[in-house]
Amino acid sequence: MKRFFLLIALSAMLLPGCAPRTEAPSALDVIMSRTSIRHFTGEAVPREQLETLLKAGMAAPTAMNSQPWRFVVLTDRDKIAELLGGGPRSGMFTEAGAVIVVCGQTTMMRKPFGQPDAPATEQPNIFWYEDCSAATENILLAAKALGLGAVWTAGYPAQERIAPLAAALGLPDNVVILSVIPVGIPAEDPAPKDKWNPDNIHWDCW
Ligand SMILES: Cc1cc2nc3c(=O)[nH]c(=O)nc-3n(C[C@H](O)[C@H](O)[C@H](O)COP(=O)(O)O)c2cc1C
Repeated sequence: MKRFFLLIALSAMLLPGCAPRTEAPSALDVIMSRTSIRHFTGEAVPREQLETLLKAGMAAPTAMNSQPWRFVVLTDRDKIAELLGGGPRSGMFTEAGAVIVVCGQTTMMRKPFGQPDAPATEQPNIFWYEDCSAATENILLAAKALGLGAVWTAGYPAQERIAPLAAALGLPDNVVILSVIPVGIPAEDPAPKDKWNPDNIHWDCW
């Protein structure tokens, strides 16, 4: 009898549909437990996971659905060291498995408002950095969900940071770096910061 139950238990574990599953964390768990990771093992991040991060970025909302984001993904560690290895806190880049440079196109082709028959012309897209911020946060959350670590490092409007990198990457004039995200296998496990503060909330009026 004992053997019979053992056999049933073993087959349940081996059958694909019945194998024990690790529950994916809920969206809220991911949001609440995400924290900046600045130390990585140096291992590469598989291309498939990088594409998942980029899909998450491109799933973000954008004003007028303009999707102004453009991404430069650096996976070559020598190239990362050459481009980002110079500063005092450059370890987070040189230890990363990849670096995602989130850029935004600051102009878009649009017809003038109220003139549906007029030709579209190139206009400023004043919401590009909000759109790219939403994409950046989605990438950070997706990294957390995949068990990766990541940190948002500042791009726009810190010109002294973005100008040399934009030049080295050969970005067109109307494409600006919003953030630079090192991503990798975490080599640290800091506790998420508790930022809940009811004093920041004003219900119904200030
Ligand atoms: C716009 C922006 C710029 C940031 N720039 C940097 C940066 O240049 N370097 C860095 O180490 N972290 C940077 N951070 C990460 C913040 O320091 C971090 O999010 C903050 O301390 C809160 O910690 P948490 O992400 O662990 O919740 C930036 C975050 C944002 C949103």
